[in-house]
Amino acid sequence: MKQQLEAIRTSALEAIAATKSADELDALRVKYLGKKGELTSVLKMMGKLSAEERPIIGQVANEVRAKLEDAIEAQSAALAEAALAQKLRDEALDVTVPGTPVRVGHKHPMYVALDELKEIFVGMGFTVLDGPEVELAELNFDRLNAEEGHPSRDWSDTFYFDADSRVMLRSQTSPMQVRAMDTMDLPIRIIAPGRVFRKDEVDATHSPMFHQVEGMVIDKGVTMADLKGTLNLVMEQLYGKGTVTRFRPHHFPFTEPSCEMDVQCHKCGGAGCPTCKGEGWIEVLGAGMIHPKVLKMAGIDTEVYSGWAFGMGLERMAMRRFKISDLRLIFENDIRFLEQF
Ligand code: PHE
Repeated sequence: MKQQLEAIRTSALEAIAATKSADELDALRVKYLGKKGELTSVLKMMGKLSAEERPIIGQVANEVRAKLEDAIEAQSAALAEAALAQKLRDEALDVTVPGTPVRVGHKHPMYVALDELKEIFVGMGFTVLDGPEVELAELNFDRLNAEEGHPSRDWSDTFYFDADSRVMLRSQTSPMQVRAMDTMDLPIRIIAPGRVFRKDEVDATHSPMFHQVEGMVIDKGVTMADLKGTLNLVMEQLYGKGTVTRFRPHHFPFTEPSCEMDVQCHKCGGAGCPTCKGEGWIEVLGAGMIHPKVLKMAGIDTEVYSGWAFGMGLERMAMRRFKISDLRLIFENDIRFLEQF
């Protein structure tokens, strides 16, 4: 029996020292020390020993059990330490390795142009307004003196939402004039940039969606001279001192008189070149004195107050500012194009 115990000790210690994981070690604990383990079954036979042998064998058995328990504990600690060391090795972080560079974007050229414009107008005491792209035809047309049957109301030009043409994608930022008159106290000085929508085919100078910046001033004694003076100043700030402009008569239902403003081509100085399509002038905006009917519909006393308004195309503004030749480039989001600004 003593030999049996010695044999168990030898084989168990060898096996324990050879384990590579906590699971393996646990299996050995059960194999040797468990209820049905090898050592336990030997001990169960103790009853058959003589009274002299029993204490001797008992002592050996206890020694073996203690040895195995110590060995298991020591191996368990060794395995845990090895596992930790491995984990630290696996998760080691080299903080000196260069990181993945983050690609930082920048403002779109059209918004750079818009920000410049806003800054100029805010500096002159204007407030910047934001308004809905889905607009009532009442504000886009009726309140702007474009009555039923006006050509701009045609289904072929305008995106309507309903069969009776009451709700639409705004075709101009001019309804913001009406919204400002309806909600703000006089005097009013506002600009209102935003998207507008028309049923145009896409080409180098047209898009069914584009941006306008509306501008409006209403105060006592405002005249066409104020309109020209203010807009000339804005063009000088945008394109430099001495920028030459001209105003041509035009027609809009909501202004009277109406005009379009041209800037002399900065490329050729008016001689005519590809940039200005040989004209020497570049059209920049439509404007005029607000029609008394429009002011009256907003409940404004036209004996006391008068005003002017303008609407300019923002894409064209940006194209001139950055010498971009094709409108489509502004919307295509081609990073090779955008990176140049
Ligand atoms: N809304 C006009 C257009 O889209 C421009 C404009 C605005 C003209 C304000 C006069 C006054 O063409």
